[in-house]
Amino acid sequence: MASSSTCVDRIKARALRDDIGLSVLSFLDEALADISALSKNRSQSQLPPFNNAFRIDTHTHPVPSWFRSLQPFSAGRETPSWDPLSHLKFMDEHNITHSVLCVSTPQANAFPDDRAKTIALARLLNEFTAELVKVYPERFSWLAVTPLPYVEDTVAEVRYALEELGAVGVGVLTNHEGLYPGEESFDPLWTYLQERAEKGDGREIVFIHPHDPVIRLDDGSLVSSKPSPLRSGLGEFYFETARAISSITANRTIIKFQNLHWRISHGAGAFPDISDRFLLGFLKVAVEARKIYATRFWYDSAGPVYPRQIKGLLAHDVPISQMVFGTDYPYGIGFWDVNVNIAGLSEAAFLSASEKEEVFSKNAKALWQGKIRQPMRL
Ligand SMILES: *[C@@H]1O[C@H](CO)[C@@H](O)[C@H](O)[C@H]1NC(C)=O
Ligand SMILES: *[C@@H]1O[C@H](CO)[C@@H](O)[C@H](O)[C@H]1NC(C)=O
Ligand SMILES: *[C@@H]1O[C@H](CO)[C@@H](O)[C@H](O)[C@H]1NC(C)=O
Repeated sequence: MASSSTCVDRIKARALRDDIGLSVLSFLDEALADISALSKNRSQSQLPPFNNAFRIDTHTHPVPSWFRSLQPFSAGRETPSWDPLSHLKFMDEHNITHSVLCVSTPQANAFPDDRAKTIALARLLNEFTAELVKVYPERFSWLAVTPLPYVEDTVAEVRYALEELGAVGVGVLTNHEGLYPGEESFDPLWTYLQERAEKGDGREIVFIHPHDPVIRLDDGSLVSSKPSPLRSGLGEFYFETARAISSITANRTIIKFQNLHWRISHGAGAFPDISDRFLLGFLKVAVEARKIYATRFWYDSAGPVYPRQIKGLLAHDVPISQMVFGTDYPYGIGFWDVNVNIAGLSEAAFLSASEKEEVFSKNAKALWQGKIRQPMRL
């Protein structure tokens, strides 16, 4: 088909232009065929009706089949299978009108210490997600992944994703090859985003998603660490989220880059529980950090976060305006009962009906300020 070959040709031409060697990936042809299948597979008649849909799901993951083959396990369990139509049906069944997509762990870090493959994988994942959003623009928006820790390549890739492919933010992992997001070598990325925000609409959005801990030894070698015999999704992901927030606080990343808004996974994981103690080490920034946690941090409900865990954040004076809805689809499926997880929020006795509406949809719209396509019923 002319349109699909055009799509593949364009991907190849831009990779060539940007000096990215996609052919270092053995599954390149399969991935390109899969990307061009996205528009071929679209069929209006198959689409669900979205009759009651009003929720905005800010924490979801596309899982291309070739990414799943590359990474058959994630967070200690089998990587779930995924396809666009099943995702759309899930949305319809749960009154979700729009979902923000970001590729899950390990994002482009499937090849530790291999810069060329990391860069190529980030590009392919971004092309895949961008094409998916092009096919279903009312239903999906997306966040770009990066080839961190290779920071110059990251700035180039993020610029491409935001400026040419239409990403509405950037997704990073709690650690990239053992380096946490406050690492000063990552500052060129935050500087680029800060400058773009200043020139543009005043903010850029950074999603932090948990990853298995990786330890970087003094000699630079990497150890994929398993601090607990339990699978990492059970607890370690929450500790990783706490480490990442600690990192961008301790190194003042959140203060230095005043226009960045941080989309924090899983209601900040273990961070609220440690924050009083942690901030004792950073008294000079503690007051301002707390202010930022309550204004430029946006916490999702993928968890289970409601009704219990969220009280830790609320007790730290984070207002309900900073809470957004997230399901972790499709990774959440089979890990927790999604219906119970959503009911934890929709039936929370301590929230009013209008507060729930804020969390389910209004706050996400406020965060993205019109950057996500306004779904029809809103
Ligand atoms: C396209 O549809 C085919 C046949 O239903 C399916 O096997 C494939 O996974 C789909 N690919 C994408 C990218 O949607
Ligand atoms: C979706 O919305 C409809 C109409 O408000 C409601 O009856 C139904 O229970 C909702 N479904 C879910 C899964 O929340
Ligand atoms: C802060 O940045 C320095 C320099 O990049 C790095 O060595 C250190 O690990 C960072 N601290 C945290 C808590 O991330």
